[in-house]
Amino acid sequence: DIFPGRKNSQGWDWSDPRDMGEINTARNKFREGQSKAAPLVVSTKAGTDQRNIHGPATPEDQVGTVNLASAEDAAAAVKVAQPWSAPATDRAAVLLKAADLYEANIGQIFALLAREAGKTMPDCIGEVREAVDFLRYYAGEAGKLTGEARGRFVCISPWNFPLAIFTGQIAAALAAGNAVLAKPAEQTPLIAHLATSLLHEAGVPQEALQLLPGGGDVGAALTSQQLVDGVCFTGSTATAMRIHQSLAQHGNAAAPLIAETGGLNAMIVDSTALPEQVTRDIVASAFQSAGQRCSALRCVYVQEDVAEGLIEMVRGAMDALQVGDPWDVSTDVGPIIDAAARDKIAGYIEAARAEGRVLHELETPSNGTFIAPTMLRVDGIAQMKEEIFGPVLHVATFKAHQLDDVIDQINATGYGLTFGLHSRIDDRVQSVVDRVHAGNVYVNRNQIGAVVGSQPFGGEGLSGTGPKAGGPLYLTKFTRSNGAPALP
Ligand code: NAD
Ligand code: ALA
Repeated sequence: DIFPGRKNSQGWDWSDPRDMGEINTARNKFREGQSKAAPLVVSTKAGTDQRNIHGPATPEDQVGTVNLASAEDAAAAVKVAQPWSAPATDRAAVLLKAADLYEANIGQIFALLAREAGKTMPDCIGEVREAVDFLRYYAGEAGKLTGEARGRFVCISPWNFPLAIFTGQIAAALAAGNAVLAKPAEQTPLIAHLATSLLHEAGVPQEALQLLPGGGDVGAALTSQQLVDGVCFTGSTATAMRIHQSLAQHGNAAAPLIAETGGLNAMIVDSTALPEQVTRDIVASAFQSAGQRCSALRCVYVQEDVAEGLIEMVRGAMDALQVGDPWDVSTDVGPIIDAAARDKIAGYIEAARAEGRVLHELETPSNGTFIAPTMLRVDGIAQMKEEIFGPVLHVATFKAHQLDDVIDQINATGYGLTFGLHSRIDDRVQSVVDRVHAGNVYVNRNQIGAVVGSQPFGGEGLSGTGPKAGGPLYLTKFTRSNGAPALP
């Protein structure tokens, strides 16, 4: 069956010495040496401005070089882009082949994810699984579409999932038959170049998928082209607003913008929750990926009666985290993506320290751009004016009668991405879940790592437009009306 039912990537078992041995052998070949990225634009000579790429964990490690696209390259690429006219069955077959090629090249992919993006080994495994899942899931969904491709889609992605989100956006637009102009984050062009090459190798036509490495200027140049029929964006809320304005200003107000953006994600823990489980889930939600996930927990509200004991347990669990080189398989928390991001987070922590609000912090490695996991006290989520995109957990307390007020405070941020609840009272779980505004709600577990196909992912309000990525409605937005999935 060329439109298979949902099948997630099998992945790799890090606790199995055979898997671990295979991965290490494969990725060690790419421990040194340099990669190259350049625009992949049909029949135009693009990208003369060359830059070196250094990794965030080991700044002396030059991972490769990138030839940046210019605004003129972006305009030229849009003109030569051609929607993918092959039948849906053929497009699906190519995307499935690309998924296999990703899995066959994990050595190089894992090495680049660690060196260029500072990803730890568990994050590398999760990232490749998610990318493969997106390819297979959207391949399966392609056959259900009844609408027509829109035409030319600009896909703009962030550095924090440089393979998974980069691939997910492109796979969705291609599955629906569009041409894609892909603009990866400026920090991670090498991974994007490798992924694009694998998609081409699988059979995606060159004119249907063009890569334009560069910064916000290249993204802005793409979204200002009148020939563009839609934009798929993942990144900060501020950038999403700029893109919206740009589309309107350039006479393209009717082009759909699918935006997945930031959040101020909260968790509520009441006094019936299991402390060991909560501790594990708080630490994973706040500190995995060094907190550089849009889904990451930023502010946990703990019922006052149990707060002191729980904070002590979180301190202990934080002390067990290993912060350092992401290449080292025992590292739990890797670096912050670059010096500018690191300095912003460090300044924020410094201000909290001056106010005496640090509850716990770990030692920061001296080399590379690191911020060690830090726990701060806050009165409530309103005290956080913006998303702090790093390993900074805020803790507030509440009394039992204040639960409704806490939910109001969380809803009042205007964001609505992820939300976590730990409670063993069923009625309370139901009433909190009914009242809270969040795209993805997790009960008695951590609140990161949504699984494609099972947990469609996306936010409300300032956190995104929908439809949710990895869900049954996503592809419809990449087609002209009448694109609803066929009824079974
Ligand atoms: P960012 O908004 O700075 O950049 C994202 C992308 O937009 C990059 O490719 C960048 O070059 C491009 N860009 C910047 N200015 C542009 C402009 N004017 N026009 C067009 N493109 C432009 O975000 P970031 O720092 O790369 O990523 C972190 C942010 O992404 C966080 O806010 C995080 O919450 C969010 N994020 C959201 C999700 C989600 O699914 N909701 C997933 C991952 C990350
Ligand atoms: N989809 C990613 C997660 O759920 C962002 O953590």
